[in-house]
Amino acid sequence: MSRLANALINPLVGLPASAEDRLLRIKKDLHQKLISEMDLSSLGTLNEEELREEVRRGAEQLCRQSNDLLSFAERERLIGEVMDETFGIGPLEPLMRDPTVSDILVNGPKCVYVERRGRLSRSDIVFNDEKHLIEIVRRIVSRVGRRIDETSPLCDARLPDGSRVNAVIPPLALDGTLLSIRRSSKTPLQFKDLMEKKAITSEMVDFLSACTRARVNMVVSGGTGSGKTTLMNALSAFIPHDERVATIEDAAELRLQQPHVVRMETRPANIEGTGAIMTRDLVKNALRMRPDRIIVGECRGGETLDMLQAMNTGHDGSMTTIHANDTRDALGRIEMMVGMAGFDLPIWIIRRQIVSAIQLIVQAARLSGGVRKIIKISEIVGMEEDTVSMQDIFVFKQTGVDEDRVAQGYFYCNGIRPKCLDALECAGVKLPPEMFERRILSGHSKGEQPK
Ligand SMILES: Nc1ncnc2c1ncn2[C@@H]1O[C@H](COP(=O)(O)OP(=O)(O)O)[C@@H](O)[C@H]1O
Ligand SMILES: [Mg+2]
Repeated sequence: MSRLANALINPLVGLPASAEDRLLRIKKDLHQKLISEMDLSSLGTLNEEELREEVRRGAEQLCRQSNDLLSFAERERLIGEVMDETFGIGPLEPLMRDPTVSDILVNGPKCVYVERRGRLSRSDIVFNDEKHLIEIVRRIVSRVGRRIDETSPLCDARLPDGSRVNAVIPPLALDGTLLSIRRSSKTPLQFKDLMEKKAITSEMVDFLSACTRARVNMVVSGGTGSGKTTLMNALSAFIPHDERVATIEDAAELRLQQPHVVRMETRPANIEGTGAIMTRDLVKNALRMRPDRIIVGECRGGETLDMLQAMNTGHDGSMTTIHANDTRDALGRIEMMVGMAGFDLPIWIIRRQIVSAIQLIVQAARLSGGVRKIIKISEIVGMEEDTVSMQDIFVFKQTGVDEDRVAQGYFYCNGIRPKCLDALECAGVKLPPEMFERRILSGHSKGEQPK
C-alpha cells in the first residue's frame, strides 16, 4: 500500500508554461483530491489490476465532479498521466511504451534525450524537480531489488522487460540525477532484419553462419551501442539445438534461441562492499558445468584470460564482445585485458594464447547518421615472429554521407580465402570458393571498385 500512497504524494509532471498551465493545475488538484478522498486502507487488499481499476475510477469521478471544463481528450490525458505517476514511472512511461524509442537519457530533471531510429533528440518531457526525478529513479531500481542512495550513488539494473538501466545521483552527478535506459527491443533483430537494414550482406551472413555452426571462436568488437549484443543474439540462431550453452553477463540482455541455455548474471557488492560475483568467477564456474559453448556478454578485464582458456580447452564456438574501434585495436585490447588478470605473462605467451583461441573478430560500428553496420570481418591467421597476423575477409568501405549525414558506402570481399575454410569443411560445412572472390557485394552502389 505504501507504494500507492507514496506515488500519490509525488509532485506531478512539470509542464511548460502557457496552455499547459491550466492542465497542470487541474492535475495537481486531481492528485490532491485522490489522496484525500480515496480510502487507502481499503485498497490494501486489492491486487495490482484491481488497484488500477480503483484509482482510474476515482480519477474519472473526480474529473466529472470538477468545475473545470475538460474536453474528452484532455480528461483522458489527465487520467493517463495520473495513472503513470501512480503505477508507472511518471513522465517516462509514454517513452517506455513507445516501441520506436531505443534509448532514454535523462540529464537532470529538465533535460530528457531520446533515441529513435539511431537518432538522438531532446524531448519535451520534464520532471517537476530533482526530488521528483530521484523518486522515479528509486522506484525503477527498487522494483528490481536494487537500491540507490547517498552511500551507493551508482546503480546498474535490468528491468523485467530486459531494458538496461544505469543511474547516477548527486553528489556524483553534478547537475542533477542522470538516468540512462537502454531499451531492449521486443523482438531482437535477426539477420533477416540486419540485411534489410543493409547492416550486413548475405555473403557475410552465410560466412558467419558457417563459422558458428563449425564452432569457430569469435569476438565481436565495437563501441557502445554499435550492435554487438544484437549480432551475438542473431548469431546464436545458428547454434545447433542439441548443444548446451552457458551465458554470462553483467546485465542479462542476450536472448538465445536454443532450448538448452543456462544463464548467469554477475552481482555487485552489497552495502558492506562484499559478496560481489564477477564475470571471472562465473566463467571459471561455467567450466565445471559441462557447457558446449560459453558466451560472455562482454569482456572488460581479467576475465578475458579465463575466456581464452575456455576457448582453448574444448569450448569451441564460444563468443564474447569487447570495446574496440577496429579488429586490429581489438587485438591490442585483448592483450591488455589479459594483462589485467594479474599473472604477469610475457607478451608472446599472451599472443600465442590469443592466436590459438580466437579465429574471427567481427567489427560492429555505429556510423554517421546513426546507422549500424558490420564493417569488418577479420580472421586471425597466426603469428609472424612476435606479431599476430590478421586478414580482412569482408569490409564495409564508407564513401561519404548523404544529405541527411547518413553514412554511404559499399561492402566488399577482399579476395582472400579464409584459412578457417578447411576447418569448416572438416566440420561438414561447405562454402563455395567463389564466395570469397574479390568484388563489391550485392545491394550496394555499383561501379565502384574495392581499393
Ligand atoms: N544493424 C542495426 N540496425 C539498426 N539498429 C540496430 C542494429 N544493430 C543494433 N541495433 C540497435 O541498436 C541498439 C544497440 O544495440 P546493442 O546490440 O545493444 O549494442 P551494443 O551491444 O554494442 O552496446 C539496440 O537498440 C539495437 O536494437
Ligand atoms: Mg551490448
